[in-house]
Amino acid sequence: MKRQAIILAAGAGTRMKSKLPKVLHRVCGTTMLQHVIDAATESEIKECIVIVGHGAEEVKATLGENVKTALQSERLGTGHAVQMAYDDIAPEGTVLILNGDGPLVTEETLRELIAYHEEGNYSATVLTAELRDPHGYGRILRDDAMGLGKIVEEKDANTEEKTITEINSGLYCFDAKLLRKALPLLKNENAQGEYYLTDTLSIIKEMDKKVGVYKTSDYEDIMAVNSRVQLAEVEEIMRRRIAEKHLEEGVTLIDPKNTYIEKAVKIKRDTIIYPGVILKGNTVIGEDCTIGSNTRMENATIGDGVEIHNSTILESTVGDKTTIGPYAYLRPGSSIGKHVKIGDFVEVKNATIGDFSKASHLAYIGDAEIGKHVNIGCGVVFVNYDGINKNKTIVKDNAFIGSNANLVAPLVVEESGYVASGSTITKTVPSGALAVARGKQANKEGWVQRKGLLKTKEEK
Ligand code: UD1
Ligand code: CA
Repeated sequence: MKRQAIILAAGAGTRMKSKLPKVLHRVCGTTMLQHVIDAATESEIKECIVIVGHGAEEVKATLGENVKTALQSERLGTGHAVQMAYDDIAPEGTVLILNGDGPLVTEETLRELIAYHEEGNYSATVLTAELRDPHGYGRILRDDAMGLGKIVEEKDANTEEKTITEINSGLYCFDAKLLRKALPLLKNENAQGEYYLTDTLSIIKEMDKKVGVYKTSDYEDIMAVNSRVQLAEVEEIMRRRIAEKHLEEGVTLIDPKNTYIEKAVKIKRDTIIYPGVILKGNTVIGEDCTIGSNTRMENATIGDGVEIHNSTILESTVGDKTTIGPYAYLRPGSSIGKHVKIGDFVEVKNATIGDFSKASHLAYIGDAEIGKHVNIGCGVVFVNYDGINKNKTIVKDNAFIGSNANLVAPLVVEESGYVASGSTITKTVPSGALAVARGKQANKEGWVQRKGLLKTKEEK
């Protein structure tokens, strides 16, 4: 059977008090709208049509090529929004209606709703939930047979109706044929002067067709975001869900509430994550790693048995059994080998570092290719920028760069080449040679006394 989803996303989201269209606010790193599209796609909906309006171009720019859009240039209500997709609605099949501001909806809930709707041969099915505080939502009025009577909006409800705690989630399944029949019949005779999508359910009922009510016990799934307070609530729930998934798969999170992991991140078992860690994008972490507190990674690929403390790793890879930090900064394009040590205050950018090499403290390694078993001393600077161009330094296997050396690129240190500490190296260091490039030490005997600077016992 053909299944389509129409996702309502034209609203302004005034209460967000934001320049950004509401559905583009992010939850755990992904826009709310994309979360909804992902849930629909995962529940085997082949076609998504997003109704755009407020900030249409900005919203469209975030969507993949396989997502259709329909423009609602005026916000005349949820029914009006769906009317904008009228020509895209298939002649038959199931149409799922979703809200772009409800990012917590899961694939499972959508599958359940679709199954209930299709297996029960309903012409329309509304997803409802029981809420302790139903304020603001449309209320579900049941008929004598406990089926759907009608849906009354908060603004149209009388005092008695307002006490009803079963609410309309705003998620529905429709038989495409009947949705096409009902949509043109909508009227805007209500307190808000809007075309309510909810009225299509009454219209379909009046056609003597079966309308179903599917009540979910998982009210979190249907939470809609209208304010930053709700955005923070939803973020907390999504973060908890992501954390639970990793915990169930064998990852230790010392303090899940204070660990920030985006949805696409992958972590293998027996890795331990300390509080304050931020893992973003398509970061992948192997097994038996320790990720120490306040580490931030974005699109990083980390091998097995790696230890990282208080460090930032962006668009880079780190091999097995390597240790990083504390306070290391791996910038994009860095590829660190196995059993490497990158110590405190070492910055690496666009560089490969071979297995068993070390840069233990206070170094800048930029635009470099470093071999295996290389030692980069304390305070070494790869001088990669001449003011116009970025140049490359190659340091081959078993080389030793003494502390506080400057390697002025372009430069090659051949295999087993040694650089004396404090040298500023501008020419190739041949294999097995020691390069010294610094002023020779001269000792001027008795100089302090001659200058009258020698302190007597009393002065000390
Ligand atoms: C709607 C339902 C209500 C339900 C609630 C659940 C109607 C009439 N009411 O109310 O029963 O409890 O959702 O959250 O449907 N939108 C457009 N174009 C419009 C109007 C809205 O695209 O012209 C979009 C919004 O951006 C939003 C969604 O539709 O994503 C819901 O709109 P909103 O105004 O929040 O609906 P409610 O009045 O809360
Ligand atoms: Ca409204």
